[in-house]
Amino acid sequence: MHKLTVAIDGPSGSGKSSVSKEAARRLDAAYLDTGAMYRAVTWHALDAGTDLTDADAVAAAVVAADLFISTDPDVEKVTIHGTDVTQAIREPFVSEAVSAVATNLAARKELVARQRTIIAAHPRIVAEGRDITTVVAPDASARILLTASEEARLRRRGLQLGGTQSAAELQAQVLARDAKDSTVVNFQVASDGVATVDSSELDFEQTVVTVLEAIKAQAS
Ligand code: DC
Repeated sequence: MHKLTVAIDGPSGSGKSSVSKEAARRLDAAYLDTGAMYRAVTWHALDAGTDLTDADAVAAAVVAADLFISTDPDVEKVTIHGTDVTQAIREPFVSEAVSAVATNLAARKELVARQRTIIAAHPRIVAEGRDITTVVAPDASARILLTASEEARLRRRGLQLGGTQSAAELQAQVLARDAKDSTVVNFQVASDGVATVDSSELDFEQTVVTVLEAIKAQAS
């Protein structure tokens, strides 16, 4: 089997996680959800009562974090200091606080180093996030930016939440999250050599197939 590292970036609601996971299965590769790492350390900082406005305290908590993340695309599991946080990290209170970690440069440096170690340990892996194509694995065999129009992202997010929120609330949330996320990493525009796949008009299967084609075109 050839060594294969695939880097996929994109905004929330682009379908990045489910598409990357399915691409990993079909490529017989491992899967790394780097957003889950940001979420887990955020969950822990909140649980431990760390002052999220104290950048040094946040960075120290990230450096000391005993973090485990499954890289099996069929096993979703994240633990921090032995606590299983697989479900908890998807809660809105974590999504709302995560930018305190994502905008902390020392915390990013630590997580990027850990992500590189995980990637290096796997002969075949699909890693997804916001800075994988540019910072974590710029030398990956294939690099893809998965985008979707604001309208498509809002529609998917609305479906995920079961239609419990008004369109205006949803839009405000998604845009606020993008604005916070993009203060540190630019994941909205593909950098040189990164293929863009726009999923706005594609269903899940079509998106997976298009991503696999883009991977094949770059990695062969
Ligand atoms: O993809 P996600 O929503 O699970 O990501 C959670 C947060 O982590 C999001 O606010 C962006 C941030 N993140 C990041 O800054 N860099 C990454 N490589 C992955 C996620």
